[in-house]
Amino acid sequence: MLPPDPHPLAALLTASDELAQAGLLSRDSGPAGLSVTLVERRNRTLLVTRDGGSGFAIKRAPGSQVPSFLRDEAAILKYLWFADPAGATRWLPRLLAYDEDRDVMITGLFPQASDLGSYHERVGRFPSWIGRAIGEALSWLHGLSLPQRTDSAVRVVAPLAIRLHEPTLEDYPDMSPANARLIAIVQSRPGLIQALDELGRGWHGNALVHDDIRFDNVLARARTRGASSLCIVDWEVAGFGDPAWDVGAAFAGYLETWILSFPIARPDALHRPEGEARHPLEAIKPAIRTMWRSYVAGSGLDEGAAGGFLRRSVLFCAARLLQAAYERSEGQSELLGHDTLLVQVADNIVARPEDAVSQLLGLLPEHWLAA
Ligand SMILES: Nc1ncnc2c1ncn2[C@@H]1O[C@H](COP(=O)(O)OP(=O)(O)O)[C@@H](O)[C@H]1O
Ligand SMILES: [Mg+2]
Repeated sequence: MLPPDPHPLAALLTASDELAQAGLLSRDSGPAGLSVTLVERRNRTLLVTRDGGSGFAIKRAPGSQVPSFLRDEAAILKYLWFADPAGATRWLPRLLAYDEDRDVMITGLFPQASDLGSYHERVGRFPSWIGRAIGEALSWLHGLSLPQRTDSAVRVVAPLAIRLHEPTLEDYPDMSPANARLIAIVQSRPGLIQALDELGRGWHGNALVHDDIRFDNVLARARTRGASSLCIVDWEVAGFGDPAWDVGAAFAGYLETWILSFPIARPDALHRPEGEARHPLEAIKPAIRTMWRSYVAGSGLDEGAAGGFLRRSVLFCAARLLQAAYERSEGQSELLGHDTLLVQVADNIVARPEDAVSQLLGLLPEHWLAA
C-alpha cells in the first residue's frame, strides 16, 4: 500500500521499487532520472517520467479488496491490444505489467499530455481535432470484434446512470444526503423516469464499450506529425455494452464543461445571457459536430441508423449528466447549484431531444450523417 500522504521522495522510491519488481527498471538504477506525480482519483496513480520523456503510469486501488477492478482493466487492455494492435497504438496506453497478487497495474505513460478538462482550460478553446479524434477512437472501439462471451475476464457493463431512479437497498448505505436528494428529484420528474426506463429497455451489450468516458479519462497533447495526440485511459469498467452510452457520455463531457463554467450557479442560469458562461456553448459546438461526424463516418452508420442512434445517444447524454451530478454530490450534505443545473439540463434534453440535438449539440439534420 502507498502511504496515505506520500512525501515526494517516498513516492519516488515507491515508484522505482514497483518498476523494479515488475522488471521494468534495474534495481541498481533506483530513482535516479525519474520524476513522479501522484494523481488521486478513484485510484492512486503514480505518473513516472524518465529523463528523455518516456515513462510509466503505476495504478493501485485504494481499498483492501484484492484483486480489484484493476484486474478487469488489465484484461480488457490485453484483449484490445490483441484484437487490433494498430488501433490500440493510436488510442490506448500499453499494458506493461499487472501483478495479480499485489494488484498493481503498470502502463506506458502518454507523455506531455493533460486530461481534456485541463487541456481545454489551458488552450482556452475547444479544438475540432479533439472532437474528431474522440469520434474516431470510439468508432474504432465499437467496431472491434468481440471476445468470447464465456471469457469471464471481460465484464458486462451496467451503468449507474440508467438506474438512478431505482436505487436498491445496497445503494443506500453509501449515499450522502445530497445523493438522496438528487434521487428524489429524478424520481419526481416523469420525463427523466421515462427516459431512463427507455434506455434500460433498449440497452444491449453487443459491442465493447469504455463505460466511463469523461474528460478526466481522455488525454490530449499538442499535435505532432506521425504521433497520436489522444489517448483514452481508465478501462476498469469497460466491457460488453451499448455504444450509444459512450457517445452520449462524450456529448455530456462537452455539455458538463459548459454547465460548470457558469460562474454563479443560480437556478435561472440557463435562461440568462449565454455570455455568462465562461465557455459559451457556441465555442464548444464545432468540436461536438466534428466528433459526431467522425463517429458516423468511422462506424459506417447509414442515414436511418444514424438518426435512431443519435436519439439514444442524446438520451444517454442526459443520463450521464445525472450521473455526473450524483458523483459530484457524493459526500455532500446538500446539492450545489451546479448539480441542480446538470439535472435541469438533463430534464430539458429528455423533454425535447430533437431541440437538444440542434440547440445544445449544434447538430443539424445534415450533420447527422458523415460528410
Ligand atoms: N498511461 C497514462 N499516461 C498518462 N497519464 C495517465 C495514464 N494513465 C492515467 N493517467 C492520468 O492519471 C489519471 C488517473 O488515472 P485513471 O486510470 O483515470 O485512474 P482513476 O480510476 O483513479 O480515475 C488520469 O485521469 C490521467 O490524468
Ligand atoms: Mg479516471
